[in-house]
Amino acid sequence: MTGTKAPHFSTLAVHAGAVPDPATGARVTPIYQTTSFVFRDADHAANLFGLQEFGNIYTRIMNPTQGVLEARVAALEGGSAALAVASGHAAQFLTFHTLLEPGDDFIAARQLYGGSVNQFNHGFAKFDWRVVWADATNPDTFRAALTPKTRAIFIESIANPGGIVIDIPAIAAIAKEAGVPLIVDNTLATPYLCRPKEFGADIVLHSLTKFMGGQGNSIGGVIVDCGTFDWKGATHRYKTLVDPNPSYNGMVLADAFGPMAFALACRVMGLRDLGPAIAPLNAFLILNGIETLPLRMEKHCENAVRVAAFLERHKAVAWVNYAGLPSSPNHALATRLTPRGAGAVFTFGLKGGYEAGKKFVSSLKLFSHLANIGDVRSLVIHPASTTHRQLTDAQRIAAGAGPDVVRLSIGIEDAADLIADLEEALDVVA
Ligand SMILES: Cc1ncc(COP(=O)(O)O)c(C=O)c1O
Repeated sequence: MTGTKAPHFSTLAVHAGAVPDPATGARVTPIYQTTSFVFRDADHAANLFGLQEFGNIYTRIMNPTQGVLEARVAALEGGSAALAVASGHAAQFLTFHTLLEPGDDFIAARQLYGGSVNQFNHGFAKFDWRVVWADATNPDTFRAALTPKTRAIFIESIANPGGIVIDIPAIAAIAKEAGVPLIVDNTLATPYLCRPKEFGADIVLHSLTKFMGGQGNSIGGVIVDCGTFDWKGATHRYKTLVDPNPSYNGMVLADAFGPMAFALACRVMGLRDLGPAIAPLNAFLILNGIETLPLRMEKHCENAVRVAAFLERHKAVAWVNYAGLPSSPNHALATRLTPRGAGAVFTFGLKGGYEAGKKFVSSLKLFSHLANIGDVRSLVIHPASTTHRQLTDAQRIAAGAGPDVVRLSIGIEDAADLIADLEEALDVVA
């Protein structure tokens, strides 16, 4: 990109990080389907391995297709650097692996994707990382959850499956007081609707599998380093960032890489040693998806408002939880934090409860019944019998996934067709 003015979001979505391929002139970023890259000479190889020079060595650690994806997401989020990985869960794993030592705590909002609740409660326990839960609708509960071992705070910007917008600035203020980084999973909002860095986030994560890729064809994740957290000045010693690194000749990553140190640590320690690399083909597909992100998000949000308004009036529906509806108690916050729209994933309750939920999802024809969100196609799931099945009743209700709850991810089809499909299925359960 050329010019003196900072490009707007839609321009960045198409161009950021990409130039015509230097070797062939190919206009679209190619899929560099190779495991490894030839060194110019022995000094070049030594410099790459010693982090004296950046460059491609081996696709587990870095690949040019992945590199364009990283630069594009970093630009869209306003971050200083990014690291693309195999999945959203891998992004969370590498983030915490970089921040925590055995015995450390972190605080997480209860209102999270069910898979994250499982990862934090069970997967992370094996590393002796302890999650302390707080209520994202009541920021003071984060302050109450702080312990001398708290090393980070984790929230979603728009919570899955509840469809509520979270008060990022209020929770960021608590993270700042505590001197720990705020991590925001921005999967449901995407940077088109919300840029968490502007509200105080230090690290932004995505499951690229959802709206960013947008077409339901590839799994991916990304870690964005906002470049805002002062690792050297922090009262706690984040060892991976501030201790001399024995595997890089005693280099201190925070000194050597400043505002990009966190993303770099996740790459050269986490990805190098744990290995969840994104495949070049997936990076390519997601990159292509991001080019239409602004157009898709506009349509997703417009359709979601129409569908939610229809459901709110239907006699078989007990309640609709969508911050995009003016009747929502969360609407004022959404207007402030996500002014372009409150996303396209939300929940509603069926008066008939658990059995009605199961019958309803089986009666829809245009909506696909599956465990995903953020596709151009409209999707539906009954969380209590599927994604949130492993949780206890109390955890399900706390996560917004009680027995009567149905989650919708509204696609970009014609809203009238979506409403007609929902109406027929509601008639079956009414
Ligand atoms: C909000 C959110 N974060 C993280 C994830 C995990 O992402 P992935 O499935 O790409 O590992 C999901 C998956 O549904 C999600 O909805």
